[in-house]
Amino acid sequence: MTVRFGGLELAHPIINASGTFDAIAAARAFGRAALYERFPFSAFVSKTVTLAHREGNSPPRLWELGEGMINSIGLPNRGLAGYLERDLPELSTLPVPLIVNVMGFAPDEFAALVEAFSARREVAAIELNVSCPNVESGLIVGADPRECSVLVGRLRTLTAKPLIVKLTPNAADVPAVAQAAEAAGADAVSLVNTLRGMALRPGCAEPWLGAKTGGVSGPAIHAIALAQVHEVAARVSIPIVGMGGVRSGRDAHRLLSAGATLVAVGTESFRDPQAGTRVRTELAALGA
Ligand SMILES: Cc1cc2nc3c(=O)[nH]c(=O)nc-3n(C[C@H](O)[C@H](O)[C@H](O)COP(=O)(O)O)c2cc1C
Repeated sequence: MTVRFGGLELAHPIINASGTFDAIAAARAFGRAALYERFPFSAFVSKTVTLAHREGNSPPRLWELGEGMINSIGLPNRGLAGYLERDLPELSTLPVPLIVNVMGFAPDEFAALVEAFSARREVAAIELNVSCPNVESGLIVGADPRECSVLVGRLRTLTAKPLIVKLTPNAADVPAVAQAAEAAGADAVSLVNTLRGMALRPGCAEPWLGAKTGGVSGPAIHAIALAQVHEVAARVSIPIVGMGGVRSGRDAHRLLSAGATLVAVGTESFRDPQAGTRVRTELAALGA
């Protein structure tokens, strides 16, 4: 099942979706030796790292849906300095390549993050989370082909490591953004991130989540992910990481058939931390 992806050679096509599998916590919970011996993914994608430390959004941060969840976690993380000091040394011991996911609120922040991780041999590739507003323009980078092109073009000059652009589904023309990323030098695109959604406090008209809205993930979005991966695959020739509601080998196979090279398992890992292994085994049984 070996897969070549953006210059990396991976043992199989199943990786994790950013922010849905904490390898450091899992090593603590299940034992490092046991986790590493049967690591569920062929590469590990970190949760988003921002330049400054973030506490995340105010609670409540989760709402469970029948077919998934809405989260408004708000990217809590130690920030670049804390990540380099505390998380990177631990994650560099993983038995698979490390992909670091980064997000900046301005192009200079993205540039500082990419330069810092580009200099680290422990990092195999960098994923750009562009589902965020550029505070200088007010536009969501991943929703606007021109914003995306300018940003990726600048970051491309700063690193020789593979750059993966993580697209947002909350955009009018996702394939146009993917094309802009490819033309600006991206090595791959990944999609979908969560879809904007809302839940109401039971019995009243107030939003449940502290941030009012959040991102919908899980099986509820699988059909949307499938459509977007299929559309993007028709418009770009760089590899695609497909994700969105993958629970089984059959779901993964569908995304591969739609044009993905790798498939990421996200929300399902909260229900079953071994979901990655199960999805890969089921996929292999399908002969894919
Ligand atoms: C609790 C939670 C946290 C997430 N955190 C991040 C994150 O830090 N960075 C990111 O790019 N995507 C993040 N995502 C989005 C996932 O990586 C993925 O794109 C999305 O959940 C769709 O896949 P799924 O339906 O399999 O979960 C998060 C999703 C969830 C549910």
